[in-house]
Amino acid sequence: MKKTILLIAALVLAILPAFSQERKPDGNLPKWEGLAETPQMGWSSWNKFQTEINETLIKDIADKMVELGLVDAGYVYLNLDDGWHGERDAQGFVHEDSEKFPSGMKALADYLHSKGMKLGIYSDAGTNTCACYTGSLGHEYQDAFTYAKWGVDYLKYDWCYTSNINPKGAYALMRDALRWAGRPIFFSMCEWGSSKPWEWAAEVGHSWRTTGDIGVGFLAIPQRYDENGNRLWTPLGVMPIVDMNEPLRQYAGPGHWNDPDMLEVGNGMTAAEDRAHFTLWCMMAAPLILGNDITDMTPETLATITNKDVIAIDQDRLGIQGLRLKKEGDIQYWFKPLEGGDWAFCILNIGEAPATVTIDWASLEVDDELSGRRTDFANVNYRARDLWNTSAKPFTTLVKGKGKLRRQMVQNPVSTVVGSHDVAVYRLTPVNGQ
Ligand code: GLA
Repeated sequence: MKKTILLIAALVLAILPAFSQERKPDGNLPKWEGLAETPQMGWSSWNKFQTEINETLIKDIADKMVELGLVDAGYVYLNLDDGWHGERDAQGFVHEDSEKFPSGMKALADYLHSKGMKLGIYSDAGTNTCACYTGSLGHEYQDAFTYAKWGVDYLKYDWCYTSNINPKGAYALMRDALRWAGRPIFFSMCEWGSSKPWEWAAEVGHSWRTTGDIGVGFLAIPQRYDENGNRLWTPLGVMPIVDMNEPLRQYAGPGHWNDPDMLEVGNGMTAAEDRAHFTLWCMMAAPLILGNDITDMTPETLATITNKDVIAIDQDRLGIQGLRLKKEGDIQYWFKPLEGGDWAFCILNIGEAPATVTIDWASLEVDDELSGRRTDFANVNYRARDLWNTSAKPFTTLVKGKGKLRRQMVQNPVSTVVGSHDVAVYRLTPVNGQ
């Protein structure tokens, strides 16, 4: 008996310093670092399947993501959203729904890891998840322990059923629990921007939702009503979300990103709208979490989500969220500073008809206080690469430079046509000595 007590005391003494060294001055544990140097990329079950998920579906999606090159393109997280939970046991430990996931979460994590992918899971800071499964309130450390034991790599933590709970405390509590559990787990906060997490959560999570839920619609989605004329919850379209997320650029950066919600590419918008939606998410350095049925998509959708040059805008190591320089009627001009002096330049047309856009470079000079970067169209030539190849190479001309054909931007006003609800996006690279 005495021996056992001594052994326990020795163990406690051995473990304690490790924890106390980890503790920050305010007594909390630090979030896991190094997991979000660029915005996270992956797939989530929610937008397409809601709670209708199961092991077979998830494995099929994973197989297809490998087969179609999506994992190679960077989409490594496969995230189960709401609907995976089973019951808590007598000790309070959570279990998966054994009908939906008969082999268990550990087996699913092992399967994904063997394919070079990572497993994401979902829970909620309140008593219940938004679809009314069990929430983590009062079980935070137990749940974090369970996720770590299963080999989970990502947690999306929602905000339903949280009356009288303080968001700062609730999210910090789960951050601590995840750190304590010992496995690096990406922490995706989802409280819809209600308490302005961008102002306080850089030390808590790796990304935070900035808005309510996205739906399938490019402009505002009309308010929905039930048969009695009562207002129903209505999701947000792409552009209303963009308008809310764009002004928050100062808060995003490596390790902590604004999250304007998961992608709806391939879920019913036009190819142009999908392209514009995807491009804007990349211009805003947003998480790229696919939300469509990977096992059943058109070649156009696949081409959109695997455009490596556009993904590179999102994943640029500087991690600077792009800015909307100006609006002229239905036309918007966006810029994003990139590594090596490059810029991403995007022209967006939110109008109902194709628009002829005359580009006046003098009026598009960017002087970005946040990044300290500025363009110099007056004095520097830029090579412009059209990343979607949708237009007839506007404002570029083919010139012979040192024996080979080279596209070079001309500094005179030039015109291009941008389709309705579409974008033209270019990577501008300074060309020296020409
Ligand atoms: C909330 C979230 C969504 C999704 C659902 C699941 O609405 O914002 O992204 O996770 O819950 O019920």
